[in-house]
Amino acid sequence: FHELEKEMTTSHKAHCLILPYPVQGHINPMLQFSKRLQSKRVKITIATTKYLLKNMKELTTSVSIEAISDGYDDGGRDQAESFVAYVTRFKEVGSDTLSQLIQKLANSGCPVNCIVYDPYLNWAVEVAKKFGLVSAAFFTQNCVVDNIYYHVHKGVIKFPPTQNDKEIIIPGFSSPIDASDVPSFVISPEAERIIEMMVNQFSNLDKVDWVLINSFYELEKEVIDWMSKIYPIKTIGPTIPSMYLDKRLHDDKEYGLSIFKPMTNECLNWLNHQPISSVLYVSFGSLAKLETEQMEELAWSLKNSNKSFLWVVRSTEESKLPKNFIEELKLTSGNNKGLVVSWCPQLQVLEHESIGCFLTHCGWNSTLEAISLGVPMVTMPQWTDQPTNAKLVKDVWEIGVRAKQDEKGIVRREIIEECIKLVMEEEEGKLIRENAKKWKEMARNVADEGGSSDKNIEEFVSKLVTIS
Ligand code: UDX
Repeated sequence: FHELEKEMTTSHKAHCLILPYPVQGHINPMLQFSKRLQSKRVKITIATTKYLLKNMKELTTSVSIEAISDGYDDGGRDQAESFVAYVTRFKEVGSDTLSQLIQKLANSGCPVNCIVYDPYLNWAVEVAKKFGLVSAAFFTQNCVVDNIYYHVHKGVIKFPPTQNDKEIIIPGFSSPIDASDVPSFVISPEAERIIEMMVNQFSNLDKVDWVLINSFYELEKEVIDWMSKIYPIKTIGPTIPSMYLDKRLHDDKEYGLSIFKPMTNECLNWLNHQPISSVLYVSFGSLAKLETEQMEELAWSLKNSNKSFLWVVRSTEESKLPKNFIEELKLTSGNNKGLVVSWCPQLQVLEHESIGCFLTHCGWNSTLEAISLGVPMVTMPQWTDQPTNAKLVKDVWEIGVRAKQDEKGIVRREIIEECIKLVMEEEEGKLIRENAKKWKEMARNVADEGGSSDKNIEEFVSKLVTIS
């Protein structure tokens, strides 16, 4: 079987160059999609920045990786003066180095047929056109969020909002949403240049052959049907390894391309000693920075709640923990009450039978992973698409609650404790826990043979083979 699998991946039908925006939350889903394509005999080359490649803590994947440059080879994004300076330079240097890579691959006898690009880097379409290649925009966020940015692009939603809209009506999504539930860049006047990049995702979208969405049809039927009338949309998620879903791909474990080193043994050994559904998993993803006051409220809520917890605190956030928090935790309750780690193997954690709830910032990957593994959520969105994802989790899919901020923008410890209790213990949380299980089943079905996302990936591959 392995020989057959090897032969199938070596004699490929087409070659896709995959270009993610260089942050963990965009690399993960594009890598998982790549593995699905590879299993259908499409050769994959992922192009990422020299800086990121140099700084990868884990680089163990079956797909080829090549370096391009964003113009900041030594220090990465942090070296840029501003966000705008970063994306402007990336466009210039990235277009050149991506072109050189395409040329190099052609010279080596393995020409590229298609560029699958992150629409934050929409200049990739021009590179594709220059070489006569087909292209696909890969939206890493869900379709409701994409639809909101689309309507800002069209001028239907104003930026920054002019009136005191309490509720915003968005064509294609029948539930009105509060102004506080739209992506942060839409309502924050300081984010003027960032919203520009979000709306620019659509500026040359009429030139692409496919628009791929990191979601699945059953999750967002209404908005996907609506957007499909405008763009050639294909939903291809959930983008998590096959071993957590349909189990059809061989050797398809964790992410394999990571700028953080997971503390795998510590986490799993600890979880193995906890009772079923007893542990709260807490993580704010790879980018969010919490206010020190918020970090303290969260720390005390975890310590005061009657649940055990596994909490990911990235090393850059650690100094915000209350003084001696970790030491006192160990002293007062041995090793049972809580474990704080700098990074964990999140999918293995969410899949673990001891996990009963996920306190999350609602990054789209984390949300989709919790949906796929049937874990109910307490949401504490921070910025970007997270408030919208939290709205969907609570009101549309009914698989979690939102811990609300006070007027200072801080979620207080009592509120967090109440939410944890509701989701993990109370009768009121029963429907949430049951719904989470239903979505898990659905996620597995859509990825399995003949499921909506599997069919879309099949169709993508056959059209790619025909036109390239
Ligand atoms: C960013 C944005 O913030 C998010 O809102 C957007 O939807 C995608 O890009 P990030 O904040 O990192 O991503 O959050 P998220 O989308 O949840 O991605 C984090 C990824 O890191 C997930 O795939 C998660 O499994 C992984 N992770 C996180 C780990 O593997 N270990 C950890 O300890 C924490």
